[in-house]
Amino acid sequence: MGLLATNNMPVDKKVNGKNTGEKKLSPRHPFIHPGSALSVTHFTLEDVRHILEQATKLESMNIERRARLYAKRRVALLFYESSTRTRTSFELAAKSLGADTVLVSALSSSIEKGESLKDTGITLRALGAECIILRHPNSGAPYLLAQTTGLPILNAGDGIHEHPSQALLDLRTILTRLRGKRPPKSNPIEKINERTLRGVTVAIVGDILHSRVARSNALLLPRLGAQVILCGPEPLLPSYAAGIGPGVEIERDFERALAKSQVVMMLRIQKERLAGLQLDLDDYTQRYQLHLDRFLAHAPDALVMHPGPMIRGLEITSEIADGANSAVAEQVRHGTAIRMALLARALDAKPSRSKSAGGRA
Ligand code: NCD
Repeated sequence: MGLLATNNMPVDKKVNGKNTGEKKLSPRHPFIHPGSALSVTHFTLEDVRHILEQATKLESMNIERRARLYAKRRVALLFYESSTRTRTSFELAAKSLGADTVLVSALSSSIEKGESLKDTGITLRALGAECIILRHPNSGAPYLLAQTTGLPILNAGDGIHEHPSQALLDLRTILTRLRGKRPPKSNPIEKINERTLRGVTVAIVGDILHSRVARSNALLLPRLGAQVILCGPEPLLPSYAAGIGPGVEIERDFERALAKSQVVMMLRIQKERLAGLQLDLDDYTQRYQLHLDRFLAHAPDALVMHPGPMIRGLEITSEIADGANSAVAEQVRHGTAIRMALLARALDAKPSRSKSAGGRA
């Protein structure tokens, strides 16, 4: 499935299974709460602008005032896969808004005893959860949870499908860095349209096949005018990946990709998803590692990004990861702001089928 997965992802019960041809679902679907964030393809550019605007507003708000906005609202974090950045920043974001959070992780809950995602979701709803943040190894799992609970679901990464909040925080990082540090009023990063990223080329390098981050970025950034270059060896980047959408091309030669790019997004090799793929790591490192000599020779001014976790010495060296062009720590910081905005959107939205339920107006 990977990069060929359908954009309006139906429930896919098998990991790496094929699109079953089930009816496509969108957030406008009556069973999917409009406050959900399941895929970047569900956002209009107007939605993206609104989320970025909210992120800036919430980030700059007085801390006490912000903590009253969603005081005592209940947010559940349901994590079937490990996570550092995404989980922590969603949790901090929810707490910054005053919400109560509860973390359910696969190893310390009834999930370990075999409880299904559906039953876990229904249980969380019965306990008063008003929004569920889900990370799951199966692509499409958030759709199942959205349908069965009727709650707003925020996709915190589903299998090799999507990671919408990561793409939004990456976008905010790119916009902030590329527009420099001029006063936000004269140069707002929220000015979002089809030309916002015109002339910007973003190379996404590494294990594209297994990367939900690559997929969400490749689906979002070209809509704002960016050119995306996917770069990696055949086993990690099948040729059909270029068909993901307009504005996306494949370049196997890393140095050629670097020379064309203003932004380079490095990805980890997802060993846990490699299953059966033969990859010579020494050869990979030789061809695709971002190290200082290569960087200085081909893209000395490029912005360096990485969603984490970074494997230093493999896809990236410490000199680059900690260097002046690295935005890795900024990405994490933008993550909290974006996730506050997504949570506010989720808790504010009214379910499409019921007038009585849902959050505040
Ligand atoms: C990524 C993920 O889990 O999709 N990390 C993240 O959320 N920031 C990438 C990875 O696991 O390599």
